[in-house]
Formats: sequence, C-alpha cells, structure tokens
Amino acid sequence: MKAIILAGGKGTRLRPLTHTGAKQLVPVANKPILWYGIEDLVEAGITDIGIIISPETGKEVQAKTGNGDRFGAHISYILQEDPAGLAHAVKIAQPFLQDSAFVMYLGDNLVQSGLTSFLNDFKARQLDALTLLCPVPNPTAFGVACVDDQGRVLKLVEKPKVPPSNLALVGIYLFDRVIHEAIANIQPSARGELEITDAIQYLVDQKSKVEARQIQGWWLDTGKKDDLLEANRVILDTCLTADNRGDVDEASQLIGRVNIGAGSQIKNCTIRGPVAIGENCYLENCFIGPYSSVASQSTLINVDLEHSVLLEGAKIVDIHQRIVDSLVGQRARITEAPQRPKAVRLMIGDDSQVELV
Ligand code: G1P
Repeated sequence: MKAIILAGGKGTRLRPLTHTGAKQLVPVANKPILWYGIEDLVEAGITDIGIIISPETGKEVQAKTGNGDRFGAHISYILQEDPAGLAHAVKIAQPFLQDSAFVMYLGDNLVQSGLTSFLNDFKARQLDALTLLCPVPNPTAFGVACVDDQGRVLKLVEKPKVPPSNLALVGIYLFDRVIHEAIANIQPSARGELEITDAIQYLVDQKSKVEARQIQGWWLDTGKKDDLLEANRVILDTCLTADNRGDVDEASQLIGRVNIGAGSQIKNCTIRGPVAIGENCYLENCFIGPYSSVASQSTLINVDLEHSVLLEGAKIVDIHQRIVDSLVGQRARITEAPQRPKAVRLMIGDDSQVELV
C-alpha cells in the first residue's frame, strides 16, 4: 500500500498568510499541518509516500519536509503544474502509484482517529474505494455522501446546494487501482476541476465496491483562519505534553501544560497552558494565555496573548491590550504607539509590519 498527500493548491482562503507560503506548512501546535498526515500514515504502516506539490510552494514543502527520514518513511515529490482538481492529482501520480492500492490524504486535513482500522477493513473486504465521513452542520461546503445501513455508498455530490445528508467526505480516501480507470472516464466539473467525488460516483455507477465509514473523534479542515485556530486549540488540548527545555527565570510562572523548546528564554512571564513555545524564543513581561502556539525564533516583550498562532520569527513588542484569536505570519512585526486603540483582531501575512498608532 502506498499513499499520496496533496500539498498543492494556492491556499486562497488563508491569504495573505499563504501568499508566500504553503497552507499545509502553517503550523498547528508548532508542527506543520502536513506532518500530522505523514505521521498518521506511518503509524498505519504506510511508508512509501508521494507528496503532490505545486510550482508556487513545492520547493518550500520539499525543503521543510525532506526525504522522509525524520518520519521513518520514503517521500517522493510529484509536481502538479496546475490546480486542476483532486482527481487530476491522482492522474499525475499514477507513475508513482503504479498498480498499488493507496491512501489519498488531503494535506490540510487533520483527524483524531488513526487509519489502521480503515485500512484493515479496506483490505479484508477487498473494496475498490473506502471513503471516510463525518457529520457536519454545514454540508454544502463539502462533498456529501448517502450511504445505506451496511455502509455502502449510494450517491456522492460535491458541494451540493441541497445536501442529501449531513455526512461530509473527509479528505482521506482509500482506493484500489480501478480509480485510475474511473478518472479516465470523468469530465471536469463546473469549477473546471477533475473532481475525485465524480470519480468515486463513477465507481458507484459501475457497481464497484465502494463503502464509507464514519470517523470517530474530531476532524478539522484547516483551510481558513478560524478553522486553523480551532485545530490549534484541539491539538493543544488533546496532544500537548508539558516539557521545559528552555530557560525560565524565577519570576515566571508556568501553569498547566506548557511546552517550551530548547534555547528559549522566558523572563518575568505568566504562561497558562495549554501553550506551545518553540525553540530560541525570547519572552519578557508577557502573559501567554491558553491555546496559544508561538513558533521558534519569536520575540514577545510586554505582550498579553491568548488563543493565537504565531509563525516563525514573529516579533511583538509593547502592546497594551490583549491580542486574541489572531494568526500572525512569519517574521511579522507588531508594535504600538502610546495612544492606543481599544481592541484588535488580526490576520497578518508573512513579512508584514503592523503599527497600532
Ligand atoms: C475537497 C473535496 C470535498 C471534501 C473536502 C474535505 O474539497 O472536494 O469533497 O469534503 O476536500 O476537506 P475542497 O477542500 O477542495 O473544496
């Protein structure tokens, strides 16, 4: 069994953060979203992984993620020149996949449950396709499935105006090689893309064995700012362990689960977990509230921060009101003048500078 992870796309919904970076590399609890998917696959015993990259962000994905050694996997990179759809990505991955059955994992999806039981089911029942489903309050934003009481898929619709059920297609799919034949038989959708949903529907129409399973636990599609903050909250809540490899002075207080990376200096701060601080950060006179992730090389002086994600090298100095629900890009700078506004809510791209005057 092989796997492909889709890490292309333009990340339009996370702009400006993704003008310069790949959305799949945006960190959740200081780890790129993409890496959670790789770890899920390796844990399920799949180590031959192809990552689909785009011309815009492919080099960055490749440089950061590497050849797979750090995960105990072998990673190949496959360039998708145009964002022509999920099924198109499978098509260009065919030389890598050959005749192997495979998992297709969308690189901006995060799931709580492991993949092993789904893989076992897929193999034991000799399925042509297995889709994972999750009940959602807003099915019009996703692919939606109708299934019978034995888990057989009856019908799939992509982003339906009138959803036939509340069961959204999670961005993790298991396929036998027949999916390639299905893809060869579908046409681009109204949005001009070869939809994987249409290819699976083709298999259903051909009476192939297509089943679905509901996942247990949470599923997060991290395409937008609020989803990303929610993913950060959930991961910090469920996965973070307290660990201090930094240098915390006596005037500082760490409360609850706080994880501090090597080389970070914490002076006169109160940090109330769950909070993840990366490596080589400098924090002085700060309150860092729950559900915050501060990536490596960041500097925070006289700052009150809560429920926010800071990317690498962010610098925030002398802010007199609490920063909440914010996503701050790599190397972004935030400073404040003496006369201050009452509140701020931020989404700031890489390399930007904000002065609150
Ligand atoms: C894609 C799929 C959709 C699925 C979703 C899950 O949508 O087309 O069926 O529900 O991923 O993340 P997209 O994110 O490309 O709009």
